Amino acid sequence: MRAWLSDPLRTAAMSPSGPQLARLMVAQVPQGSGPIIELGAGTGVFTEALLAAGVMPERLLVVELNRSLHGILRQRFPQVRVECADACCVLDLAARCGIAPGSVDAIVSGLGLLSMPRLAVTQVIEASSRLLGARGRLIQFTYGPLSPVPRVLAARLGLRARRAGLAWRNMPPATVYVYSVDVARAPGV
Ligand SMILES: C[S@@+](CC[C@H](N)C(=O)[O-])C[C@H]1O[C@@H](n2cnc3c(N)ncnc32)[C@H](O)[C@@H]1O
Repeated sequence: MRAWLSDPLRTAAMSPSGPQLARLMVAQVPQGSGPIIELGAGTGVFTEALLAAGVMPERLLVVELNRSLHGILRQRFPQVRVECADACCVLDLAARCGIAPGSVDAIVSGLGLLSMPRLAVTQVIEASSRLLGARGRLIQFTYGPLSPVPRVLAARLGLRARRAGLAWRNMPPATVYVYSVDVARAPGV
């Protein structure tokens, strides 16, 4: 709530996501042993659900821009790498953490894409599509009625969107979308 009051557009939600949404998000993570990156972790609802689902802490890179929330995450998850950074720079951050492009199993995003500047959305989605492996997934929720990744951007990056479900008990209800890179349509193919 304090983070929302000081920066409502960036925080994008007055309270953390609920357990139904966390379960739906985590259920979209593919089987594998590659890295998982969480963007905009807030107080760590999805981090906690990922660990509870059996994800090994060393697979996780958690990114949060807000300093206070970053401090909370560091305290809650001392076994996880938690970085105070802008998700727009996730490609560079991943490189510094030894995560190569094309190697990531899942990017679990709690970012409020609909309230972010268009350029920032483009940077985050472009970086994410470069990080994902062949079977990797970008998992994103939205409070809106449509896919939160602009259609033109998804088409340019060769991203295929799938609506995974609605967490209707969440406040407010949220829809989860899963994006994967369609190798035949991705740039440079
Ligand atoms: C809608 S909240 C979601 C928090 C948490 N994932 C949840 O579902 O409860 C969005 C979070 O993204 C963070 N955030 C916003 N812009 C960001 C950016 N550019 N890079 C990293 N984190 C950002 C905010 O500080 C906030 O914690």
